Amino acid sequence: MNAEVSCPRCLSKLVPYLSQCPYCGTNLELVEFVEETYFSAKVNPMDIRIAPETLVPRLGDLLIERGLLGPKELDAALDYQQEKIMQGKPCLIGQALVELGFVDQNAIDEVVTIQIFQLQHNLERVNQELEQRVAERTAKLEDTLLKLTELNQLKSNFISNISHELRTPLTHIKGYLDIFTDQSLGPLTKMQEDALKVLIRSEDRLEQLIDDLIQFSTAVRGELSLTEQEIDIRHMVDAQLPQLIRKANAKDIKLEIMIPNGVPKIYADEDKIQWVINQLIDNGIKFTPKGGQVGISVEPEVDFVEIKVSDSGIGIPEERIAEIFEPFHQLDGSITRKYSGTGLGLAMVKRILDAHGSQLQVMSKIDRGSIFTFSLPVAAFDDDR
Ligand SMILES: Nc1ncnc2c1ncn2[C@@H]1O[C@H](COP(=O)(O)OP(=O)(O)OP(=O)(O)O)[C@@H](O)[C@H]1O
Ligand SMILES: [Mg+2]
Repeated sequence: MNAEVSCPRCLSKLVPYLSQCPYCGTNLELVEFVEETYFSAKVNPMDIRIAPETLVPRLGDLLIERGLLGPKELDAALDYQQEKIMQGKPCLIGQALVELGFVDQNAIDEVVTIQIFQLQHNLERVNQELEQRVAERTAKLEDTLLKLTELNQLKSNFISNISHELRTPLTHIKGYLDIFTDQSLGPLTKMQEDALKVLIRSEDRLEQLIDDLIQFSTAVRGELSLTEQEIDIRHMVDAQLPQLIRKANAKDIKLEIMIPNGVPKIYADEDKIQWVINQLIDNGIKFTPKGGQVGISVEPEVDFVEIKVSDSGIGIPEERIAEIFEPFHQLDGSITRKYSGTGLGLAMVKRILDAHGSQLQVMSKIDRGSIFTFSLPVAAFDDDR
């Protein structure tokens, strides 16, 4: 890479020799490889000759070639043609030659017919050359696509394997943290308890990240299958409450749960929808300054229920809403970014809701907050189908 570089995806200015864009995560080595291998070959303009004079010889040249005209006569006719142009009465070279009596109209007609045949022949040849080049380029592009697909597959396998590998030692860490916390290994001082709380929070976060990665790699490999069943939403939200309240309290955020009594059961994959709600509330808390509000409300309609997760946080610029669903993408992707995370949450949320046939709607205002809304079918209706 030379000294003046910018990321081909997010266009950020970069220092040379980076292998990955620090702002959007694009693999710069791969981009460079693809560009060099497939797109930088200089096209020689002589490879495909489609200029008129290369497709068909000029009339004068052809007459000379066939012995019907001498070069001096052609020069004289060209001068004559030039004069006519100056007089404002332009004429064709054939007409000039006939008017000067150098050749007769029959010779001109004969040579024009030859020109037409040659043009036809040359056009066919150029066409074949073009077709061949298109075929070659297509084959190269197909090859690149295959390589990229393989790389993508490799990446998602790697993410999946490494995530599962990380989970095993984490289970041990979690187990021992629990044993320490309930003081089975002896009493703890206040300082030790505080240190343990930090460890537990970090372990929680790590576990969440690994779960996100596993979910993502599963979905990328097209293995996102649903186990749909009747779900009691209140029950599902209640099960996550202690963890959510803990997160909200840490930022002095008021968490409001509005699930009216008698909300009908929905028909969906419980684990995945629980994960979706968890991600949306997690984002709400993360992107809302201290002292703000985050809420989840459930509104029953006739054959579906609408689930809304809202916050009073920093909001999302309207023109950047589409970006928030890109995997590994955060709106603040700078090195100095304030918010933690991998940028996978919403990409997965979208995939999971897509698999349920549901769409995530986003309404947001900068510095006022955001509302994420989606619907799921009421179980009774699903059963009747
Ligand atoms: N409630 C929100 N308010 C403001 N911005 C948001 C909100 N939710 C998401 N975003 C923006 O969308 C980006 C992508 O969200 P996503 O949940 O995919 O990633 P993340 O929260 O940054 O990381 P992860 O979910 O992997 O921990 C966020 O980085 C943030 O810029
Ligand atoms: Mg998130």
